[in-house]
Amino acid sequence: MIASDKHSLPFLLQLFILCLLCFIARVEPATKNVSALYVFGDSTVDPGNNNYIDSVFKGNFPPYGRDFANQVPTGRFTNGKLATDFIASYVGLKQENLPPYLYPILSNEELMTGVSFASAGSGFDPLTPTLSNVIPLSKQLEYFKDCKKRLESVLGKQGTENHMEKAVFLISAGTNDFVLNYFTLPIRRKSYTLFNYQHFLTQQVQEFIQGLWEEGARKIAVSGLPPMGCLPMMITFNPNNTYLERGCIDKYSSISRDFNLMLQQELHLMQLNSSYYGAKIYYIDIYEPLTDMIQGHGRLEFEDVDSGCCGTGYIEATFLCNKLSYVCPDPSKYVFWDSIHPTEKAYHNLFMSARSTIDFIINN
Ligand SMILES: *[C@@H]1O[C@H](CO)[C@@H](O)[C@H](O)[C@H]1NC(C)=O
Ligand SMILES: *[C@@H]1O[C@H](CO)[C@@H](O)[C@H](O)[C@H]1NC(C)=O
Ligand SMILES: *[C@@H]1O[C@H](CO)[C@@H](O)[C@H](O)[C@H]1NC(C)=O
Repeated sequence: MIASDKHSLPFLLQLFILCLLCFIARVEPATKNVSALYVFGDSTVDPGNNNYIDSVFKGNFPPYGRDFANQVPTGRFTNGKLATDFIASYVGLKQENLPPYLYPILSNEELMTGVSFASAGSGFDPLTPTLSNVIPLSKQLEYFKDCKKRLESVLGKQGTENHMEKAVFLISAGTNDFVLNYFTLPIRRKSYTLFNYQHFLTQQVQEFIQGLWEEGARKIAVSGLPPMGCLPMMITFNPNNTYLERGCIDKYSSISRDFNLMLQQELHLMQLNSSYYGAKIYYIDIYEPLTDMIQGHGRLEFEDVDSGCCGTGYIEATFLCNKLSYVCPDPSKYVFWDSIHPTEKAYHNLFMSARSTIDFIINN
């Protein structure tokens, strides 16, 4: 007869927990098969690089960062973490968040496990970052080269090469090329049809990936565009919508879908092209998961899907969302934090939807 102490768990349950622990211990090393995370792009992945440059595109004042401990604004354009922060801790590279490269006192250890070079307001089109005086992708690549030089002094040349082979490079940009640039200003519209502009952007993506590849990057992931017609600011400025009717504008979202298809084709061609020997190039979809959050699909996870939590939610972003703005009581009920950027909750959902792709990238 099995006499069980009343404070101990039943034997079978103990065995079960022990097995579970073994299983977790066995799985763990595989999930850490990645040396670093290096990120490039715009506000969707900028943890605060713009704090250190002369641009009005900043998010380093309240109520940005409201849901961090002590409500500290970091420069992230949301109430808390970005998807890339969740990714960095998920793969075991960071305990807290992914830091901005321009943070003045980064240790070699931080550079070694990953940083973000991204700058809010930037884009694939070299004209886009000039509109708000932010960091172009070409300059982000230069910064990466500087970072690599610093690592070479620690790891040596071969060591750094090995390190880069096991690092993940993530690129997230493109929305500003349309919203701030093509839709807003006549310059590009004069010389490019929409189709030609989309093609031009995918060429810029290709050149940027080539630049990374030449620096030793081998695992490269590019995220697509969100449904641009669902951004609260786009809804507000659509002349066809009445004040009460705030539906997504498919005319703009369909441009995202077209671009995403073109981008996937371009990435696929690069993957097949022997010029990029050894490269694994991935596409990460954010269009579908964001659309799911916005349309609810019966789950009603969010109460507000068409306005931001900050201010009226219709127009405020960057300096218009500030310490004088009204802030909704529970941002986790909102898809959008300001009129352009998702909440931490929405970023967490995007991270969750990309998790199987991330697992695949780090183990292949
Ligand atoms: C780690 O990744 C390499 C390729 O980068 C692969 O060959 C190896 O099998 C992976 N190891 C584990 C434990 O997944
Ligand atoms: C507004 O409506 C007109 C007429 O239906 C249409 O031609 C135009 O494309 C619409 N604009 C937007 C931004 O959806
Ligand atoms: C492969 O890439 C090189 C370098 O970008 C390019 O010149 C060449 O046209 C590409 N080949 C194909 C088949 O796309």
